[in-house]
Amino acid sequence: MHSTLKNVLRTDFLKALNQSVNHSHWWANVKMAPPDPILGVTDAFKRDTNKNKINLGVGAYRDDNGKPYVLECVKKAEAVVAAQNLDKEYTLITGVQEFCEASVRLLLGENSEIVKNKHYSTSQSISGTGGLRNGFEFLRKFYPYQKLVYLPTPSWGNHAPIATDSTFEVKSYRYYKPSTRGFDFEGCLEDISKIPEKSIILLQACAHNPTGVDPTPEQWREISRVVKQRSLLPFIDLAYQGFASGDIDKDAFAVRLFEQDGHEFLVSQSYSKNMGLYGERVGALTIVARDQEEIQRITSQIKTTIRRLYSNPPRHGAQIAATVLNTPELRSLWLQEVKGMADRIITMRKTLVENLQKEGSSHNWQHITDQIGMFCFTGLNEKQVERLIKEFSVYLTKDGRISVAGVSSKNNAYLAHAIHQVTK
Ligand SMILES: Cc1ncc(COP(=O)(O)O)c(C=O)c1O
Repeated sequence: MHSTLKNVLRTDFLKALNQSVNHSHWWANVKMAPPDPILGVTDAFKRDTNKNKINLGVGAYRDDNGKPYVLECVKKAEAVVAAQNLDKEYTLITGVQEFCEASVRLLLGENSEIVKNKHYSTSQSISGTGGLRNGFEFLRKFYPYQKLVYLPTPSWGNHAPIATDSTFEVKSYRYYKPSTRGFDFEGCLEDISKIPEKSIILLQACAHNPTGVDPTPEQWREISRVVKQRSLLPFIDLAYQGFASGDIDKDAFAVRLFEQDGHEFLVSQSYSKNMGLYGERVGALTIVARDQEEIQRITSQIKTTIRRLYSNPPRHGAQIAATVLNTPELRSLWLQEVKGMADRIITMRKTLVENLQKEGSSHNWQHITDQIGMFCFTGLNEKQVERLIKEFSVYLTKDGRISVAGVSSKNNAYLAHAIHQVTK
């Protein structure tokens, strides 16, 4: 070929290639998604060189030295699992059987009628997020009534997107009362009593994220009554069993109440926080019905849902959790360790209030100790949060939520000082 022609062809080819790279035909309409607000906080924290910096954004437990914590019971269970020399075959579509059975007993208690009568369908999920995802996908296909989901205001940031992706319309009911920094009981009941019948209501069973505000047992009884009266289907998110009070049974109160009150419901369970299995992605979805034959149909369709989403779940984390739950010595070690984590958080809350008082703060900080679980809704406004970040390198989300798990005996006084400076 003539060399000039060759050059022309080459230039045309490169031009076309270039165009296809810069002006992709296929992906031109993909818009940049907004950054995740919590990961954004962590990124900014990492860039900060202040040696006093504190990250209170991320919802993961830290020990008193600010380090991630692998539970002793988990280390021991991992050794047991490793010694079993298991093969790497697929597990069932619904996951590791002994894990699912131990999970539903943990959820409803050993004496549960639902458990005794096998009126449940429990399947392993990719942690709590996956339990919600599987549940909403199942409801998308098999819940023919109202395609409406009611969430508390505010709620965990992923609830609405998960429900919307499964084509539900998301609405809200009052939950947090800014004036008291507590639970808006009257507002909540009033809103729930107006929800259209047969809608789905999402409830967080304990250690509400992001507010740390939970209803009392008496208030739960009223909520259950109104939910029943309105004929709503409860979808309960239990991401912190044991992590709120340190007692797994106390933290399951709301779920067990709903069982006793005769509801049919779904529950998504997570072992991220209470067993510290964050990255292992261990959870379960339980659907409660009142009839064996119904349960069989539900399980068959949960299987088709999971099969299409990810075929079957990973085994390792579920085997660890099952070993902890089913081995008496490891289970009692676990119960001690969960209580240890919850107690450390409760102590940090008390110390923070004491340190604020020592700083001379005249505000009422009682909500810090009234609230429960990993998170505290401090009531700090956006401007105050900005100052905490800029002037004190204390990182938190702009709604004023702090992860108390990031507070330690070493940084507590510094945090109190910083909060006092921006609120006085
Ligand atoms: C209320 C709530 N639900 C569900 C989850 C899901 O967590 P995971 O998918 O790690 O179990 C979280 C995690 O922060 C949460 O706070």
